[in-house]
Amino acid sequence: MNAGIIGLGRYIPEKVLTNHDLEKMVETSDEWIRTRTGIEERRIASDDVNTSHMALAAAKKALADADVAAEDIDMILVATVTPDQAFPTVACMIQEQLGAHKACAMDISAACAGFMYGLVTGKQFIESGTFKHVLVVGVEKLSRITDWDDRNTAVLFGDGAGAAVLGSVSEGKGILSFELGADGRGGKHLYLDEKDHTIMNGREVFKFAVRQMGESSVNVIEKAGLSKEDVDFLIPHQANIRIMEAARERLELPVEKMSKTVHKYGNTSAASIPISLCEEIEAGKIHDGDVIVMVGFGGGLTWGAIAMRWGR
Ligand code: UT7
Repeated sequence: MNAGIIGLGRYIPEKVLTNHDLEKMVETSDEWIRTRTGIEERRIASDDVNTSHMALAAAKKALADADVAAEDIDMILVATVTPDQAFPTVACMIQEQLGAHKACAMDISAACAGFMYGLVTGKQFIESGTFKHVLVVGVEKLSRITDWDDRNTAVLFGDGAGAAVLGSVSEGKGILSFELGADGRGGKHLYLDEKDHTIMNGREVFKFAVRQMGESSVNVIEKAGLSKEDVDFLIPHQANIRIMEAARERLELPVEKMSKTVHKYGNTSAASIPISLCEEIEAGKIHDGDVIVMVGFGGGLTWGAIAMRWGR
């Protein structure tokens, strides 16, 4: 039994916050943000839109795309560090709202690597034959934990949601290999303080990310018994174009073979990989049988990568 993605959906908030808007809020410039991060604008959810609303919207689209009814979902995993509240979890909230009465449900907290942790967890239950369908959502309302007076972080983050339905796919397709990792020693470089604000040592996280994104990508390709030449598309966590470029160069892929949404959505943490994957599929850039590598890193520190052959 092979687990693969059989449906995708995303939710992007309407409100746009541009670099020029940020110039009026903190001491920064469009030029600095663009050249250091690749970000031009990001989306901010309105006050009445919470993490669970975004998760629900993305999940509904993924279920429709997969042609799977809510009552046929066995498990819901929501990767987020910005749940509406500690409990009930976002996963339980959307379980009720979707009418997925049969599903067990829990949130996963692994920061920007959360969606990778979710897919790998879901895969285990499908491949063991325990469950048929697992809904995995990556969603964040990072605007809620951003200190809008701190230029080090205020320019980086955005809100959004992406969702995938995992199910069994034909032999040779689906998740081929994965790597998950954590290093708690680096927790001090990226954390939430007592005021619920994100604090980051950008340079330390940058160094870690450049090294790890490249290494994990290569590791999952090798574990799948493939080589760099076999990779058709890279979906990196959208944190910073310079970090993404480092991973792409390590895989020796041309620019058009890497997903880039960071310029329009900023860093949406756990949501960035599923949003990007969803957009590439909709744009027709990934075809049946293509090998894709997804790779992410985040606070914890955590990381995760997956090699997958696209298709059902
Ligand atoms: O999903 C995981 C989340 N985290 C990340 O992905 C972050 C990883 N790190 C990064 O992306 C980069 O380190 C940053 C984009 C955060 C910063 O880029 P950098 O090239 O590492 O810049 P830096 O931290 O070395 O700072 C350079 C200068 C500093 O001034 P001094 O000390 O050289 O005088 C900063 O104070 O830029 C200054 N600076 C800014 N200037 C204008 C920092 N933020 C800003 C800003 N606008 N928004």
